[in-house]
Amino acid sequence: MALSTGFNKIKTAIFISGTGSNLKSLIKFSKLKKSPIIIEMIISNNPKAKGLQYSKIYKIKKKIFDFKNNSSEKKIIKELKKNNINLICLAGFMKILSKSFINNFRGKILNIHPSLLPKYKGLNTHKKAIKNKDKYSGCTVHFVNSKLDSGKIIDQTKVKINKFDTPESLAKRILIQEHKLYPAAIMKILSL
Ligand code: GRF
Repeated sequence: MALSTGFNKIKTAIFISGTGSNLKSLIKFSKLKKSPIIIEMIISNNPKAKGLQYSKIYKIKKKIFDFKNNSSEKKIIKELKKNNINLICLAGFMKILSKSFINNFRGKILNIHPSLLPKYKGLNTHKKAIKNKDKYSGCTVHFVNSKLDSGKIIDQTKVKINKFDTPESLAKRILIQEHKLYPAAIMKILSL
């Protein structure tokens, strides 16, 4: 993947809509010497996203956009290009990006999804896995293409489903794995 520019770290934007625990883990990862990325911006569609607190804590620029129409997307693209963003990580980002947005950053947008894709695209993944009596669920990091949760898979972690799991208890255990998987997937595609 032609994302890396010599020894410079890849300028990265993280898109969030909520809690931002994956954002936090990516920020921590980005501060390691071995990390190939530097987080330049946090972008959210939700001005009340809890994860926006990390902008203040870690002094990272934040921008809020409503992602409602073309013109708002154009503004975001402009902002990302202005900041030389070369990697976008969706982390609990609940909006669907348009084809034209994705084409502007082809092969440079990643997402983390709380299931073993291609199983359970979309929402309520834990509920579906439990209802289907699956033995395992987990999480997946994949490239983003124009079909929801369907881009090329980079890496996955399996998590065992226990007899008494609820969607909430399973989500908690999977989230812990997400925090390890996202940095590992980034290392996998970007380590020189
Ligand atoms: C994660 O489970 C992620 O996989 C899903 O939404 C959740 C976001 O959690 N898309 P957080 O905002 O990173 O804490």
